[in-house]
Amino acid sequence: MSEFHVTRILPEDAMAAALRADVLNGLTSDPKTLPPKWFYDAHGSELFERITELPEYYPTRAEREILAGRAAEIAAALPARTLVELGSGSSEKTRHLIDALPRLHTYVPVDVSDSALEQAGRALVAERPGLNVHALIADFTAGLTLPHSPGPRLLAFLGGTIGNLLPGERAAFLAAVRGLLSPGDALLLGTDLVKAEDVLVRAYDDTAGVTAAFNKNVLSVVNRELGADFEPDAFDHVALWDAANEWIEMRLRSRTAQTVKVPALDLAVHFAAGEELRTEVSAKFHRTRVTTELATAELELTHWWTDTENRFALSLSVAG
Ligand code: SAH
Ligand code: TRP
Repeated sequence: MSEFHVTRILPEDAMAAALRADVLNGLTSDPKTLPPKWFYDAHGSELFERITELPEYYPTRAEREILAGRAAEIAAALPARTLVELGSGSSEKTRHLIDALPRLHTYVPVDVSDSALEQAGRALVAERPGLNVHALIADFTAGLTLPHSPGPRLLAFLGGTIGNLLPGERAAFLAAVRGLLSPGDALLLGTDLVKAEDVLVRAYDDTAGVTAAFNKNVLSVVNRELGADFEPDAFDHVALWDAANEWIEMRLRSRTAQTVKVPALDLAVHFAAGEELRTEVSAKFHRTRVTTELATAELELTHWWTDTENRFALSLSVAG
């Protein structure tokens, strides 16, 4: 029989404290910023699922193509008994991996979104009798401890989510991941690749406005959790390609001069007309950069798979 557990590593009060600290820091910095993990309340997770289905948002389809085509090769390279997935969301693409791993004993999805974990976990145990699902509500940037389960372990980080970390955060993250791996374990990493600017920008600025709604959702989260009075429609969604950093940058641009109150922080934040708040970066990679960043964390890249159009890559690496 399969089992479904949810462990909350992040207590609600710690999460509330982290949000307050991030909002205070971010809104008093110059330029203003907000970190992306706060996009994903229940509504944000739903909006993200709609993004994955947009015609302009190719990364999900490209990564699914690789997983569907290469799952058997991945399983042969690493016949995992435990599959850990960071930022698992709906776990939708992950089913290709789960089905290709005959000896899989436990699946450990890790996410800050409790609603996404509940939904995905319940669906998986119902569909896959015999699979244990141990979901962790946790921040994957904050030092993870994994539950006891049999090795070897495959640690998956899909969706190009690693690109949402800034370079320094990325290096710290990869070093921490390396620390979670024992001999015989591996990291399966999804990275979106550098490509034509118009294709990249469209993926983050769709005509239906779903990405704009997703970007503005972070303001609704701050309103609800900290009593702020952000007027989401007083901001425009901006997505631009930063060629020097090779990342897409998502911003919210204030339409007018306005002051926003955040009562829980005893804070009033002034925005000039046209002032931009940075909400997210999404870095794009070349194979060389993935290889060297992994190597810096003492991870050795052993496999590299791309979709037929070379838009997205999955790499497998082992403790080197
Ligand atoms: N892996 C899925 C979802 C990608 S979206 C896919 O490829 O489609 C990014 C996911 O990471 C969301 O589910 C979000 O809730 C989660 N997330 C973002 N920042 C996080 C953090 N710091 N710790 C844990 N989960 C995080
Ligand atoms: N990991 C996804 C990405 O970088 C997250 C994402 C997609 C996203 N679209 C977004 C984040 C729009 C913020 C805004 O592709």
